[in-house]
This record gives sequence, structure tokens and C-alpha cells, in this order.
Amino acid sequence: MAQASNGKTTNQKLIAWVEEVAALTKPDDIYWCDGSQEEYDRLCGEMVESGMMIPLNQELRPGCFLARSDPNDVARVENRTFVCWDDPEDAGPNNNWIAPDEMRETMNGLFDGCMRGRTMYVVPFSMGPMGSHIAHIGVQLSDSPYVAASMKIMTRMGQAALDVLGDGDFVPCLHSVGAPLEPGQEDVVWPCNETKYIVHYPQDRSIWSYGSGYGGNALLGKKCFSLRIASIMAKEEGWLAEHMLILGLTSPKGEKTYIAAAFPSACGKTNLAMLIPPEGYEGWTVSTVGDDIAWIKPGDDGKLHAINPEAGYFGVVPGTSTKTNPNAMKMITRDTIFTNVALTDDGDVWWEGKDGDAPDHLIDWQGNDWTPDCGRLAAHANARFTVAAINCPSLDPAWDDPAGVPIDAFVFGGRLSSTFPLVYEAKDWEHGVYMAATMGSEATAAADNQAAIRRDPMAMLPFCGYNMADYFTHWLGFADKNIQLPKIFRVNWFRKDDAGKFIWPGFGENMRVLEWVCERVQGNVDSVEGPLGNMPRYQDLNWSGLEFSSDDFGGIMDLAREDGSNEANSQKELFDSFAGRLPDEMEAQRQALLSDMESAPEVWRAAS
Ligand code: GTP
Ligand code: SPV
Ligand code: MN
Repeated sequence: MAQASNGKTTNQKLIAWVEEVAALTKPDDIYWCDGSQEEYDRLCGEMVESGMMIPLNQELRPGCFLARSDPNDVARVENRTFVCWDDPEDAGPNNNWIAPDEMRETMNGLFDGCMRGRTMYVVPFSMGPMGSHIAHIGVQLSDSPYVAASMKIMTRMGQAALDVLGDGDFVPCLHSVGAPLEPGQEDVVWPCNETKYIVHYPQDRSIWSYGSGYGGNALLGKKCFSLRIASIMAKEEGWLAEHMLILGLTSPKGEKTYIAAAFPSACGKTNLAMLIPPEGYEGWTVSTVGDDIAWIKPGDDGKLHAINPEAGYFGVVPGTSTKTNPNAMKMITRDTIFTNVALTDDGDVWWEGKDGDAPDHLIDWQGNDWTPDCGRLAAHANARFTVAAINCPSLDPAWDDPAGVPIDAFVFGGRLSSTFPLVYEAKDWEHGVYMAATMGSEATAAADNQAAIRRDPMAMLPFCGYNMADYFTHWLGFADKNIQLPKIFRVNWFRKDDAGKFIWPGFGENMRVLEWVCERVQGNVDSVEGPLGNMPRYQDLNWSGLEFSSDDFGGIMDLAREDGSNEANSQKELFDSFAGRLPDEMEAQRQALLSDMESAPEVWRAAS
């Protein structure tokens, strides 16, 4: 029996847990990851040998690989994701629930012998700058080398995390692709199981994930730990774990504003986090702290301070081009794992929306020949890149600061083709929480949930580990603390005209909206009161370098009374789903909107 130390750690809970899991899952080997570059290179080499990864042309994409997943394992599986509170009311209508005892029995059955024929990787990691008081340590046990290599990119992974952990506490994250091998049985390229469970136990803050090797299902530091489990920790301890990018904006005057912004999956966080200001914005810089997750804690200075718990980006590839995200294009030229994009004949990668025309021939994401007229997508719509933050050309100097960065504004934005304006500002904190809580968005390929449009409060619907009514209460409660509260805004890049075309050019041009947000924070610019909140007038935005008339502006800012009323009415369904648990402020805000809409003009015009 190992005592005191196994040469990597003296943490008895960890040593015992690794032994216990190995006894259950019966791997051929156990390997403790040290997080070195040499180890990463070796893992990649082994995957190339097994066929799990294809090295790309090293002149065109040095250090890059392509992985192709099983067609049944391409996105988060929301309907197989569970949060097992003792009381289903604590999980809330926003989570799938099975009683913990019943789930433990099911999981023990599935995990029994599930790693036979495979290596179990012990992957220690820090979510957040090593040793930061906002950071936390996790350890993932996984039978996937793709996961172990990805965790090296996405987190601060290896021996250094064990050293910080010492004899302290960690979040145990158990993962198996659920594909044991019989002696002599040949492996498939992407092992996984038709049966999938992504399970969270709030009581001991542990995670058990079975059957998938893809993204948020399998890189357990990401959604499972940093959002679902961390949201529970945050509620108990008085902080926030959010589905937010973090960016810094420096004005020509040298004022620096940090913004944290929540958008649902595949709705533009990575784009916004790496935005390059358009022409006319000389003297402004945008810098990136994070593109997906923010952990936010009150600091001694009375401000909220945010860290990005991650150390890399797992970003949507299709649609990425030098027009939409030039920084990302540079970032993924080297040392990147591409998953489910197409392969060109010269060993490069291709995807829908990349610059230039489609090549005459490709191998698509499923490994089949592809030609432009074949009628199939070359890259899967949820194809992703995995790349280290240090590759990002716009990386903020404070991205790894253990103290985090002070947040001045929260921005929330859904994908909504009508009704919702380009930007507006909450009247106060409570109104802002209501605005964020009622956010809706249209479906994307990031998850297998294909409801056309759904309410996605704070972009956290798939990620809040407890009853969202209590989450709203938690958010409202920040008003009672002695905190300098950030201003709250809502934005919508996705409003369409009658022909179904996006009205707003978006991407780099979103800088115009960010500038207004900064100026509101700094108190440098006015707004008018609209029916939904405080709005800029046409003349309040900077239009230099863009042709966008005040009529165009009306097209993305005007609000018809009927649309506003319908919106307020349809929010009732969300609120009803929380029955007796919803904080009263939410319904009071909805009633206020309903009555404001009644007295609003038939069409409220922003330009007038
Ligand atoms: P996750 O990583 O899934 O959490 O999502 P994300 O929010 O980081 O997604 P990402 O930035 O990769 O979103 C990409 C999608 O948003 C693509 O379909 C883009 O075309 C679209 N998008 C981003 N910004 C804009 C914009 O300003 N205008 C329009 N029309 N589309 C945008
Ligand atoms: C999301 O779906 O919001 C993602 C991708 O960021 S995944 O890590 O797969 O959850
Ligand atoms: Mn995300």
C-alpha cells in the first residue's frame, strides 16, 4: 500500500482514489502526466501511430494535427447530462436529474472493467493561474490520450498542479470513453460508446463522464468542473462561475476597461474576445483574457475580479476567416489540434467559411472524398480547434495574473433574428439581472439540443449546476454586498432584415458597441431611456469608417409595441417553470416591462 508519497504526490485522498478507480475500471497501465512538452509530443506520436491523429503538413501547419471523431460523438450531449442532487428541486427544471444512489449503481456497472486494454492517464490540473486564490485544482482520470493531450493545452496541467495541490482538496473527474478492449482486439480510430452519461455529484463535488471523447463531455475541467461544479461552489462561497469571455479595451486616452460577456455556445464569444478594432479606431486596443469561462470573485478593492480558469481555447472552426477573426487565424497556424475539419490534398485543413474558394477535392471530416458539388459539409458544424492561450496574438498581459482583472461591465447577448436591439443598458443591477435571466437564443451546432429558440439565462442554461431560480437569487444578492457593481448590457449582433440577411456587419464592427459600453462605464456618453433599457441614439455611436445610415440603425434598434409585449408575455413560461422558487424581483420586472409596453408608441424609434 502506497504511503506518504508515490514519487508524484503525498496526497492520500488522491493516491487512494487512483487505486480505487483502477480496481474498478481495470486499465492495463496507469500513467501520471507530468505536463511536459516531451510528454505531449510523445502522446501525439502515439496517437499518430494508432491512427487517432493525422499530422498535418509541417511546413503549412507546424505542430498541428487533425483528429476525426465518431459521427455519433461530435458535440455536448445535453440530454445525457445529469446533476445528481439528493432533492430534484435543487437540480431544478434546468437540469436532468436521477437520484444519486441510483446513478452511482448505474455508473459502477458501466465503469466496471471499462478501461480494459487501455492506459489510465492521471491528469492533475489547475483551473486558473497556478496558486491563485481564485483558482482550484482538479484531477482527471481518463482512458483517452486525446483527452490527456488536450488537457495539456486547455489547462495548467501536470506535476506543477500536484505541487500546488499538496495535501489539499481537489475535484475528482473520472472519464472513460467506455470502450474496453479484449486481448488482441484491434482498436477503432475514435473509441466511444453509444451509451453516454455526463454526471455531476454536488455532494462530493465529483464528476463521472462515460461514453464520449468529445469536447465538453470529456475535457472535464471545462463545462463539468469550471461551470457546473464551480457554479455550485460559487453560490456557496459568494462568487460567480460564468459562461463568459473576458476582454480588455484600452482607449486612446489610456483608460482600460475590462468586460466579461456571456453568449450561448457558438454565438460569438471567441470572435468578440479576439476582436481587432476596425479602421477609424487607431489608438484603441482589444486584448484577450479568456474566450469561454470566467471565475469572478469580489476583491479587497471592492471590485469584482475575474480570471479565465482555462489556459487554451476550444473554439468553433467553421466560419473562422481573416474577415471574421484574423487573430484566431494567426493563432491556429501552429501547435493546434483540429477536430472534425476537412483535410486538403497537400496536408492542410479546410472548413466552411475559410478564406477563398473550396478546393476541388478534400477528405471530409468523416474521412470520405469530398468535392464542392457533393452536397455534404466538408467540416462538421461543431468542428473545433484546441490551442494554447499563449498562441493568441491579442493575449492580455494580465491573462495569467493570479489576482484576476477588475470587471467594469457585464454584457449578455443571444442569437435573435428579431425584436432585440443591437445594444441597450440596464437601468440598475436588478433590471440587469432580469435582462440576463430572460435572454433567449436560437439553436446552434454546439449541442445536440435542437429546439429552434430557447431561453438561455445568462447563457448558462446547460451549465448551471443547481436550480436556476436560486442562481437568479444569487446574482441579485450581489447588490447587497459592499461591491462596486459592473454595469449590465445586452447586445444582439444577429437581427435580420425581411430578406433574412444580418443587418449588422458584426465582427470587428462590434467595436462600435464596445466603445459605447466603455464610454458609459467611464461616464463619458449619454443614453436615452427606451422601453427595454437605456439606449444609444444614432449620434451616440462612432460611425467613422462605416457606412451605416440612421435608417439602418432603426432596423436594428426600433422596437414594435407588439413585439415587446409578446416578449414580456412569453417570458412567463420560463418563470412558471421555476414555480415557487423564483425571486419576486423577476416577476416584478416582467410586470414593469408589460406595463411600459402598454404605454409605448406603436413603434419605438431609436433614431428619433
Ligand atoms: P462556444 O465555444 O461554443 O461556447 O461558443 P463561442 O460563443 O465562443 O462561439 P464562437 O465565437 O466560435 O461563435 C461562432 C459563431 O458566431 C459563428 O457562427 C460566427 O459566424 C458567429 N458570430 C460571431 N460574431 C458574430 C457577429 O458579430 N455577427 C454575426 N452575424 N455572427 C457572428
Ligand atoms: C460550448 O458548447 O459552450 C463549448 C464547447 O464551449 S464544449 O467544450 O464542447 O462544451
Ligand atoms: Mn462554451
